[in-house]
Amino acid sequence: MIMTGKSEKRLILIIDDEEVLRDGCKQVLEKCGYGVLTAGQGNEGVMLARKYTPDMAFIDLKMPNMSGMEIIEILSRDIPDIVLVMITGFATIVSAVEAMQKGAYDYLPKPFNPDQLRALTKRGLEHRNLKIETKRLREEKDQMERNFITFVSHEMRSPLVVIRQYIEALNAIAGDRFEQDVKEIIERCAKRVHNLEDMIAHWLDISRIENGSLTQQKVSLNLDSIISRSVEEMAPLCRKKGIALEINSPRSLPPITGDTESLVRVFTNIIGNATKYTPQGGKITVSVKKNDEYYITASISDSGTGIPPEKLPLIFEPFYRCAGKNEKHGGSGLGLTFCKKIMESHSGMIDVSSREGEGTTFVLTFPVPINTKRNGSGEIS
Ligand SMILES: Nc1ncnc2c1ncn2[C@@H]1O[C@H](COP(=O)(O)OP(=O)(O)OP(=O)(O)O)[C@@H](O)[C@H]1O
Ligand SMILES: [Mg+2]
Repeated sequence: MIMTGKSEKRLILIIDDEEVLRDGCKQVLEKCGYGVLTAGQGNEGVMLARKYTPDMAFIDLKMPNMSGMEIIEILSRDIPDIVLVMITGFATIVSAVEAMQKGAYDYLPKPFNPDQLRALTKRGLEHRNLKIETKRLREEKDQMERNFITFVSHEMRSPLVVIRQYIEALNAIAGDRFEQDVKEIIERCAKRVHNLEDMIAHWLDISRIENGSLTQQKVSLNLDSIISRSVEEMAPLCRKKGIALEINSPRSLPPITGDTESLVRVFTNIIGNATKYTPQGGKITVSVKKNDEYYITASISDSGTGIPPEKLPLIFEPFYRCAGKNEKHGGSGLGLTFCKKIMESHSGMIDVSSREGEGTTFVLTFPVPINTKRNGSGEIS
């Protein structure tokens, strides 16, 4: 007979072809106040698990018809949060490891005594509680983040757009009637609004990278074309500031996998920084090279002011700016945070080295996809 226990009771399923063992476990666990289901065959056990969704299941490894390993695989896939324990007469490391890989929480070697069964059940159920709580907290956090993104985009960005439009309208309607000092105040307002809009856009992008919605369009692409686009975009600014912008790239590079738009922005952000901190007459060089068959690196070097060594570890932190409030160049301190997160979402890395008064180099490392064909000599084709 199947006992399903009361709804508030924790439900344990025992799947074992040895009747004595099943009954023994049932008695011990029922005495502890658990509801216990038993099955003498794999398919019967799977059916019971699907119907009653127990909290925990003990499964014998060796059974006729369906192996314990197979059952573990099915239940860990089908029953959310179930804690699975493999019962085994010959606990080899290999079978234990395989069971764990398939989703088991632990294994119980035969013969075992009631104390061992009770202790493992208690521990397994505690593990389940923790797992469920962690999942709930993670979902809550994700929901809060989603709400916050919506809040920021609607409640903060929208009024800013309206303010900007009012300022534009004000200038269009009455701009020529304003005294110079009034014009300056309006200009300062417009600039602040613009900075705030930029900061919110940056911040929203960072949140979108974190929830995975910004870089979903990953395709096979050539780093050369990303660099050309970024350099094209930044060239007018460099010309205006009297800074030389140069690209060094080998003839052929293996493709990488990535999101074109966000990678272009990584390069424009870094080149943009370099333009801020490189004086007139200086130089920015973008170089790409294939390190070995596994990585491509792109470095962006400038001959600018450099970054003090004690500040280097901080520059990727959100809102961090080396000169703090005294920073004379515009910006929100989110550019490099964005770059780092984009590189991480591409399984890549971003590193920096700098010497004060000499310049700064950012190095971006991209993995070459494993399925990129390599010929006999190890060359990537
Ligand atoms: N090439 C560089 N040379 C010197 N300092 C740099 C360079 N790149 C970054 N920094 C320093 O690192 C800080 C952080 O850079 P980051 O790009 O994150 O922010 P930002 O440029 O100040 O603002 P944003 O990019 O959000 O507009 C900068 O404020 C600057 O102090
Ligand atoms: Mg920047």
